[in-house]
Amino acid sequence: MKNTWRFGDQEFVYVREVLDSGFGSSTSGSMNNRFETAFAGKIGAKYAVTFNSGTGTLHAALDAVGVGYGDEVITAPLTVISNLDVILAQNAIPVFADIDPDTFNIDPADVARKITPKTKAIMPISLYGVSCDLDPLMELGKKYGIAVINDAAEAVGALYKGKPIAEIADITSYSTENSKHITTGDGGIVVTNNFQYAEKMRKFGSLGYAALKAGDGRIRSNKDIFQDPTYKRHDGFGYNYRMPEVAAAVGLAQTERMEFFLNLRTDIAALFIDAVADCEYLIPQKIPSGYNNSFWTVAMRFEHKSVSWQEFRHKVIDFGGDGIYAAWALLYQESIFASGDWKKRCPPLYEPLNYPATGIYPNAESVQPKIMQFVNNYGSLEEAKPKVDALQKTINHFS
Ligand SMILES: Cc1ncc(COP(=O)(O)O)c(C=O)c1O
Repeated sequence: MKNTWRFGDQEFVYVREVLDSGFGSSTSGSMNNRFETAFAGKIGAKYAVTFNSGTGTLHAALDAVGVGYGDEVITAPLTVISNLDVILAQNAIPVFADIDPDTFNIDPADVARKITPKTKAIMPISLYGVSCDLDPLMELGKKYGIAVINDAAEAVGALYKGKPIAEIADITSYSTENSKHITTGDGGIVVTNNFQYAEKMRKFGSLGYAALKAGDGRIRSNKDIFQDPTYKRHDGFGYNYRMPEVAAAVGLAQTERMEFFLNLRTDIAALFIDAVADCEYLIPQKIPSGYNNSFWTVAMRFEHKSVSWQEFRHKVIDFGGDGIYAAWALLYQESIFASGDWKKRCPPLYEPLNYPATGIYPNAESVQPKIMQFVNNYGSLEEAKPKVDALQKTINHFS
């Protein structure tokens, strides 16, 4: 599928501006700041910091809330590998909590059971466009002094009990990778209302430069100071996770059209949901009352008793559909766990730990093999309709 429809004139105008300006980096140019300001404004947060991925954002978020050696981070097993990798990158311990079988998101009651004196952060995921259940998670956070980092890589525009999700968690993280609602090809952007977290994340993503701050990015000091051989640049640890200016230029233009992208995905999703309205074995991801679904994809549970997941998918393709994505394998069932390779990240800490491959998280293990994700990233309803027809024909075929 060609995605050229996703880019309009304004993307070219802003990219041209970057090139015409002589091409700064994210710290010397202005496009990252413009993207951050526009995104924070639309998403409902005070501070935004751009990154080169929605994995880098999560890494910085963990660091900002103080996750380090031996700390426990509670997350869901049904998610992308990024959530695991950033925990391991901090030499912290992944602790999984089961999911709700209907929303597919982390179950706060199980999170509560997993809290120990070592828990430093809860990192729920707002999966496929539906917010995680934030109120009880925030209550746990407050009760035990634990930060909540909402991984909303897939949930730009999601609402929780009528509120934009970015207003609720301590930190909310987004990806702007190609498949996401707004895209910079690869990239990420993280938001918070907490000045200290914003500043820490900015410095973590940019080599710990002392001059970097939240808000507009950096303090510009007199050249006599920073060109002097005695000048000390770094007062913290950091990686270089910065977003290039041309990517930020695209991100700014995409942010200005955020509503268009959200409405289009939602309208296309409605066609898919409508197609399964009378189908008792395809059950769409639950949208609890007061939430919306910003529909990164249209996720459903496939519960057919005699037709296999694969058989159904092939039939959709036979009828002209684009195929169906499965959910990721559960994190603790990934090959990196089976091989034990993950323990090499920090043998003294990880050697004694074991994550059995089955039998611990019944909802996640029951739901994961059944998930079907229908692509809704089409340029128009007209383009989507034949794909929805393919699903409808498949349902008729098997009924
Ligand atoms: C839930 C979730 N978290 C994190 C990420 C990581 O984002 P990125 O691919 O930009 O690193 C993604 C996207 O791939 C995702 O879907």
